[in-house]
Amino acid sequence: MNMQSYYEGNPYQDIGGADTIRNLVEAFYPKVIQDPDLSPIFPEDIDPVKEKQYLFLTQFFGGPPLYSEKHGHPMLRARHMPFPITPRRAKAWLRCMSEAMDEIGLEGPVREYMFQRLTMTAYHMVNRQDQETS
Ligand code: HEM
Repeated sequence: MNMQSYYEGNPYQDIGGADTIRNLVEAFYPKVIQDPDLSPIFPEDIDPVKEKQYLFLTQFFGGPPLYSEKHGHPMLRARHMPFPITPRRAKAWLRCMSEAMDEIGLEGPVREYMFQRLTMTAYHMVNRQDQETS
């Protein structure tokens, strides 16, 4: 049995819905803006990014389609294209996410499943090679 087939529930419901997504986002962005590889590409005012990520993760993990209702089709790869996302930055993003999950006490198969999907998505966002940026 591999990771992908191990968990088959609705992550949004199983982790506790809106409050848990909010807690995850609140734990995640302070790590992002303290990360030396990530901070240069994020805006100074992180609140709008937090809000969009809250809307996105809600729908991504099986909650109501809040992001699409407000912003249309996610087209995440296209929306990330203006920002140089290297394999190194994808790793850093995922490290911050894993630490945020630890911090809020997200555990077990649902966490493994969520992290797996975020990992696939993060590598899908890669649009530059590491040597192309500093
Ligand atoms: C791979 C590493 C990643 C990096 C370095 C990164 C970086 C960024 C940056 C710089 C922005 C724009 C901030 C601004 O508005 O100025 C952004 C927006 C966003 N990111 Fe990422 N991101 C990554 C992965 C992901 C992943 C895996 C997801 C989803 C699970 C995601 C979801 C979003 C969303 C929803 C937005 C807002 C899009 C919008 O409506 O404008 N990102 N990201």
